[in-house]
Amino acid sequence: MAFFSKSFFTIAVLLSLLSCTAHGQLSPNFYSNSCPNLESIVGSVMSQITSRNPSMAAAILRLFFHDCFVNGCDASLLLDDGPVVSEKRAPPNLSVRGYEVIDAIKSRVEAACRGQVSCADILALAARDSVRLLGGPSWSVPLGRTDSTSASLNVDLPGPDSNIGGLIKAFNDKGLDARDLTALSGAHTIGQATCGIFRNRIYNDANIDRNYAFLRQQTCPMGAGPNFNLAPLDATSPNRFDNAYYKNLVKRKGLLHSDQELFNNGPTDWLVRLYSRNPAAFANDFANAMIKVGNLSPSTGWSGTRRSNCRSVKFSSRY
Ligand code: HEM
Repeated sequence: MAFFSKSFFTIAVLLSLLSCTAHGQLSPNFYSNSCPNLESIVGSVMSQITSRNPSMAAAILRLFFHDCFVNGCDASLLLDDGPVVSEKRAPPNLSVRGYEVIDAIKSRVEAACRGQVSCADILALAARDSVRLLGGPSWSVPLGRTDSTSASLNVDLPGPDSNIGGLIKAFNDKGLDARDLTALSGAHTIGQATCGIFRNRIYNDANIDRNYAFLRQQTCPMGAGPNFNLAPLDATSPNRFDNAYYKNLVKRKGLLHSDQELFNNGPTDWLVRLYSRNPAAFANDFANAMIKVGNLSPSTGWSGTRRSNCRSVKFSSRY
């Protein structure tokens, strides 16, 4: 009888695990047995790094978005050149930073739970912590992604010159709607952009506050100048995850053309106004949309690859 109930229990657990993987479901409890301290390890490394250099939070948040938008959240963007040509070489990824932060977290996680945790899950947790540590919302991160063994130079991320139609379409193609687009763009409440990316906007756009354009022109001269001079995406509070980004858009002080397109007499104007007045609505929609981004075509489950070095497929465990 004892044997029966024990086997029954084991089979029930196995069946529930199998059904989990078969449906590709992620779960916040995925590592509760195999790596119970995972979240506190990621949180403590992120806290140390961002207290020294808050700009790394922005770097990690962007890294997560650029990984997930291209073939799902599979940590393919973390791969260096090797058997595969690195996704880091794709033009929209050339200014993505923060890879060494993920390396630092990964080595702490490997020391605690060797071969258990995917790089894709570490990135999803680190992105959540980036937002939380700069004063933004927090959420429970569904886990259980596996890592890719390939990368793609075919990066279909929308560019900073996109108009509202192009932005909505790019997000719709991934199953994300205009509300997700508007909330997720609020990530630009932190971080920086380079002069070469926003020069056209500050000299040629009509929908820009003149004093703001003039201010930005001081460090981003016209013509083939210093393309790499940086400016904050949110001039008001660049290191705080708040709703100032939307307040800026209402004042026509968006740094990127694509930012200001969200408030340019179009279908998302009402959402920009809503988030500019209601920080809780923004926080709630941002957290929900981040979970949706984290669910983009993940490969999941116990069977699959987990890389012990996020930069290389040579160090993979298959389960
Ligand atoms: C809606 C379409 C989007 C476009 C067109 C876009 C474009 C850009 C561009 C051009 C930059 C500056 C890059 C440079 O100057 O080299 C940037 C920075 C950034 N983006 Fe986006 N982005 C978009 C959506 C997102 C989303 C959804 C997130 C995250 C959820 C995000 C997070 C960031 C962050 C945090 C930075 C600053 C990075 C840093 O300081 O290193 N972006 N984005």
